[in-house]
Amino acid sequence: MNAILHSSKLHPAPHPVNECDTPALLLDFDKLGRNITKLHSGVLAPVKVRAHGKAHKCPDLAKLQIAHGAIGICCQKLSEAEKFFEAGIQDIVISNQIVGELKVKRLVGLALAMKNSGATLGVCVDHELGLQQLAAALSDAKAGGGVIHVWVELDVGQGRCGVQSSAEVIALVEKIVQCKGMQFAGVQAYHGRLQHQRSVEQRLGTANEMFAKVRGVLDALLTNAASWGLSLPIAVAGGGTGSYKLEAASSLYTEIQAGSYALMDADYQRNEMPEDERFENALTVLCTVMSERTGQIVVDAGLKAFAVDSGLPVAIQPGLHVKGISDEHTVIEVTDLSLQPLIGKKLELIPGHCDPTVNLHHEFNVIQNGRVIAKWPIAAKGAGF
Ligand SMILES: Cc1ncc(COP(=O)(O)O)c(C=O)c1O
Repeated sequence: MNAILHSSKLHPAPHPVNECDTPALLLDFDKLGRNITKLHSGVLAPVKVRAHGKAHKCPDLAKLQIAHGAIGICCQKLSEAEKFFEAGIQDIVISNQIVGELKVKRLVGLALAMKNSGATLGVCVDHELGLQQLAAALSDAKAGGGVIHVWVELDVGQGRCGVQSSAEVIALVEKIVQCKGMQFAGVQAYHGRLQHQRSVEQRLGTANEMFAKVRGVLDALLTNAASWGLSLPIAVAGGGTGSYKLEAASSLYTEIQAGSYALMDADYQRNEMPEDERFENALTVLCTVMSERTGQIVVDAGLKAFAVDSGLPVAIQPGLHVKGISDEHTVIEVTDLSLQPLIGKKLELIPGHCDPTVNLHHEFNVIQNGRVIAKWPIAAKGAGF
């Protein structure tokens, strides 16, 4: 772990965490390391981990995941893929649809640049229009063979992107295999809601329904595999922090796309998880108590420092209960009055949802033994697709 850390470009003289100005995004290096080791060693060959970079948007962290066995990185936006490639990541899948002529032209530009440097780019499709736009942009760029790896996204119950039937998968694959610039990569079958179902039984039930659907699609593809020249087994990608062990053991999935496991958040901790699948909260926001009265404090980080779509942040320190948040403030009830006075002190809160919280910050302050030992830029942050 440390060898990678010290190769990080930005490596200022270590200083105590308490000297950080606030709000500051903290990443506990030892917890991060244990999280990465736990998930990567829990996914057994021949299944592979392709860590999801949408959670952290940070090339330094992506490189750490790859150094610890991930075959590459997923991301959700073209802008993230561009940043990861710029930083030297060689195997990237955009686990999402890229639609619109401007974006698709950029996508093909990136795919060509990656192919020319021996790297690989993948993308999902779930509609004929997206495929037509991609084929047209590849043809305009006079792209050679197999420039971009194309995954067909299957909706396995999330109700977001993805085609719904085997017939639709077959119709898209038929076109992909005829397009010189594309290489059919496999089926993406990710179920987001499954990740956050709280009980082990609920998740197992949902996963079994999902597996039945994936099996049906694979059977349909196998009847055409030889005539299309598909290599076997057909790759299936999916799985997240809440369900990865199920997909990994399914004999269907070949790539696991978990992301949050590295950082974790308060919402994921509400899942009932067996001990060997439970990850540690490596991500916190350091805040300063800026106002105080008996039984209440206010810290200097609000909606501009925390995403609250999955609930309010949670204080690490027992005796403190977060009760409200506004733009620049979080109001915390002090349930243990012996903790006061707290004015001017610094304390850590765990974000409700890691991905969009990270997107609000510029860098991770990587900490170990109470000191900031590196600063990792969140290079792929931002709203741009
Ligand atoms: C397509 C896809 N794959 C994988 C993941 C990773 O899931 P998690 O962060 O829950 O591990 C996500 C997260 O939203 C996703 O959208």
